[in-house]
Amino acid sequence: MTTTPALAARLAAFVRDMDAAIEASPCESGAMLACEALLRELIAHDDWLPEDCARPHPTYYQQYLLYRDPADRYSVVSFVWGPGQRTPIHDHGTWGVIGMLRGAEFSRAYAKVDGRLVAAPTEERLEPGQTALVSPTAGDIHLVRNAFDDQVSISIHVYGTDIGKQTRHVFDPGTGAAKPFVSGYANA
Ligand code: FE2
Repeated sequence: MTTTPALAARLAAFVRDMDAAIEASPCESGAMLACEALLRELIAHDDWLPEDCARPHPTYYQQYLLYRDPADRYSVVSFVWGPGQRTPIHDHGTWGVIGMLRGAEFSRAYAKVDGRLVAAPTEERLEPGQTALVSPTAGDIHLVRNAFDDQVSISIHVYGTDIGKQTRHVFDPGTGAAKPFVSGYANA
């Protein structure tokens, strides 16, 4: 799913507009703001995500590459949650915009205080059509989970680099210890 000829028209339009937006405003805040507006348009319709990038795995949440900018300025991913699936506590090491396409998800933010992790008191729930931002500048450690134990949920993520090869971290919830990881993609 990395070449443009196979992209559905809506995703192709998103990529075209993202390219123009990043040319015009390459800084993190400019790219994120433009991306959020474009991602809202993309997720306003749920008729474009290829079936093979919407497939859950019985055990693991799936991360499918939809598009990778040739210069690694951004990447677009579908995140597919099976019922009850969740991430470890993790960071991203780059900016990201998350748009809910199908179902719903919960995100709980964590802050590092004196080397330990402190959980936000509440989770944020993302519904279809809504977006959320992550950024290392503002703090981007969180745990995300499917809001449903009996259905699949899907969100579309855009990151400010090729997220599949980005070195980032998972965190031990007890000690706060960070362990590097590279997520890769389920399809690339
Ligand atoms: Fe995340």
